[in-house]
Amino acid sequence: MRSNAFLLPSVVLIASTPSLCDFPVCRSCGSEETLVAWVKRSERNVPPLGYGIPTSNGGSMLTKIPVTYPMGQGEPLNIIISGNSDSRVLVDSPSDGGLQNYFQSLGFSGECLGQRESVHQAANLGDGHDFKNETAVIRWNYGDPELGACKETIQGGNHFRYWIQDGPQVNSGAIFLAASYEKPIAQQHDIIPNGYNLGRDWLVGNITQSSIPTLNLTNGTTYSGSTSSEGYTYKTDISYLSGYLEDTNDGINHNISVGVDGINSVDGLVAVLDVDITQVPPNTSYVHFRSFFSFSL
Ligand SMILES: *[C@@H]1O[C@H](CO)[C@@H](O)[C@H](O)[C@H]1NC(C)=O
Ligand SMILES: *[C@@H]1O[C@H](CO)[C@@H](O)[C@H](O)[C@H]1NC(C)=O
Ligand SMILES: *[C@@H]1O[C@H](CO)[C@@H](O)[C@H](O)[C@H]1NC(C)=O
Ligand SMILES: *[C@@H]1O[C@H](CO)[C@@H](O)[C@H](O)[C@H]1NC(C)=O
Ligand SMILES: *[C@@H]1O[C@H](CO)[C@@H](O)[C@H](O)[C@H]1NC(C)=O
Ligand SMILES: *[C@@H]1O[C@H](CO)[C@@H](O)[C@H](O)[C@H]1NC(C)=O
Repeated sequence: MRSNAFLLPSVVLIASTPSLCDFPVCRSCGSEETLVAWVKRSERNVPPLGYGIPTSNGGSMLTKIPVTYPMGQGEPLNIIISGNSDSRVLVDSPSDGGLQNYFQSLGFSGECLGQRESVHQAANLGDGHDFKNETAVIRWNYGDPELGACKETIQGGNHFRYWIQDGPQVNSGAIFLAASYEKPIAQQHDIIPNGYNLGRDWLVGNITQSSIPTLNLTNGTTYSGSTSSEGYTYKTDISYLSGYLEDTNDGINHNISVGVDGINSVDGLVAVLDVDITQVPPNTSYVHFRSFFSFSL
């Protein structure tokens, strides 16, 4: 279920004095959702690595898709936002420097006009929740946080689904992303050649503001970069790791057209992002929030 935070209209919110909790900014302390996010944060139990490896606890690094040709193919979880990141970034919210604002700092926004994709993909993060549908689909916004995701839906572009590792067995708070660069809707949103690896690396390139040499990446390649949105600046350290995903074409959705020129659809690398907040708005008790989903109401 999508959180109400995703459906806020575009408004200027002036935070009142927090009463029920001690967030620096507390928009709706009475709301169950805010309290849940708060409790979840304090109850997170982060393994030293920053996340649990799904495959070590019955999960999978590939998504499950209702219908594929042949059946049973999945898409790679090729980016992980580490549970060692700043706790504020791991809260699925557009405010307080939360995850949706972080995505916006990378040039991505939520679904066009609050629509929801009809086909969901499920992931099993090995956290005790088994397979669950994505939390949301996030799209490259072509420089327009409000309507750009509509352009992406029609023209294609980079996008990702994400899941939060918050189950009873592993509650790291880490976020797992399945990124890919899709073709226009007129071409049924197929994935471009090498579109999983490129989707991952163009998102990383949006953090570093430099082009990532996909074919030269190896286990242990690192980068770093800073991005900003709504007065928050995020510093992201990126490390590419092998061993979680296979370097393969087998069982990968659209593998016939994505794996080309001798390069597998999935190159076997996952980009692990560790995100810090290095700057906050000057006065965090007065914040102008531009909603992530401005037109959804
Ligand atoms: C997940 O999405 C599928 C459609 O892709 C739907 O049939 C199913 O009910 C959804 N599951 C949940 C728990 O919402
Ligand atoms: C940022 O993302 C866009 C859209 O995916 C992509 O075209 C561009 O190359 C990326 N920037 C870098 C430096 O990778
Ligand atoms: C990739 O590596 C090769 C061989 O080391 C080098 O010649 C090439 O310039 C590199 N390409 C990029 C884009 O970094
Ligand atoms: C990748 O590098 C890490 C250290 O950075 C190492 O622990 C890991 O075993 C390596 N993975 C593989 C598959 O060699
Ligand atoms: C794609 O994956 C299927 C298994 O899902 C495999 O049988 C097939 O050979 C793969 N195709 C290519 C081009 O690698
Ligand atoms: C922040 O803004 C509030 C409301 O406008 C004001 O009362 C407060 O003094 C400001 N605090 C700082 C540190 O500027």
